[in-house]
Amino acid sequence: GIRQELGSLHGIPLFKSFIEGWPQVKAFQARPDDLLISTYPKSGTTWLSEIMDMIYHDGNVEKCRRDAIYNRVPFLEMKVSKGLSGIEQLEKTPSPRLVKTHLPVQLLPTSFWEKDCKIIYMARNPKDVAVSYYFFHQMAKIHPDPGTKAEFLENFMAGKVAYGSWYDHVRGWWEEKQKKKILYLFYEDMKKDPRREVQKILQFLGKELEEGTVERILHHTSFQEMKKNPAANYETMLPTLMDHSLSPFLRKGISGDWKNHFTVAQNERFNQHYQEHMAGSDLHFQMEV
Ligand code: A3P
Repeated sequence: GIRQELGSLHGIPLFKSFIEGWPQVKAFQARPDDLLISTYPKSGTTWLSEIMDMIYHDGNVEKCRRDAIYNRVPFLEMKVSKGLSGIEQLEKTPSPRLVKTHLPVQLLPTSFWEKDCKIIYMARNPKDVAVSYYFFHQMAKIHPDPGTKAEFLENFMAGKVAYGSWYDHVRGWWEEKQKKKILYLFYEDMKKDPRREVQKILQFLGKELEEGTVERILHHTSFQEMKKNPAANYETMLPTLMDHSLSPFLRKGISGDWKNHFTVAQNERFNQHYQEHMAGSDLHFQMEV
């Protein structure tokens, strides 16, 4: 199989193949008009990517179906033995580029800051992230075997998963937002009122779109539409990398699915842990929807 054990990149657990490619990622030369989409895994990266590609193409659905989302929005630190690395893919991509990363803020290649690139961060409540990440470990075969749900939850809480602690990730980017050009969005807000969130993005970009175009973007990026769109749902990925029969990439797309998976005891323990790790922060998440 291709499942990888995690190595450590400056203390952050990460796939060994990604760590091998790190020197190129660290030296990456961002362009001033690159827009970075940054997330902890399973926080709505693909959703936000599809929204951004639609905005960049003024709601032209055909242009957004031209290729799979993982090619339209290259994954900066991605490297597997076969196939292009994220860096190689970005070199082939014409400007203005959309770039995806899951890197914690302290590991972002410095040229993104030097070039003052726009950054959109999307965060999702950790209970739903944990559930989504568990199913993703099953289907996306680069990850270590997740074990049981209970075992995975322990590892997630301890930050012993790819990209490390969810707490450090969301808090690190939140703190950076006080200083830099970062739009910080929440999956739960996007679920509740996608129109308002798209308007926030447009304002951040300094872009105006006609009402009908916004309408088309909202329709094309709904869960139902993306789920049946091969350019958005990862079904064109090699079956050795992702096995959709184990769990589809677009799995449920709701807030609060954790209630179907956490036991009462796990939830109590998680709440306790959450309070300890978010203490002193003005960053808040909606877990009840
Ligand atoms: P679930 O596993 O809870 O369904 P990422 O793209 O960061 O890997 O995140 C994947 C999660 O986002 C999955 O969550 C997926 O279903 C959800 N998602 C993707 N597109 C979505 C959409 N248009 N609306 C709502 N959720 C979406």
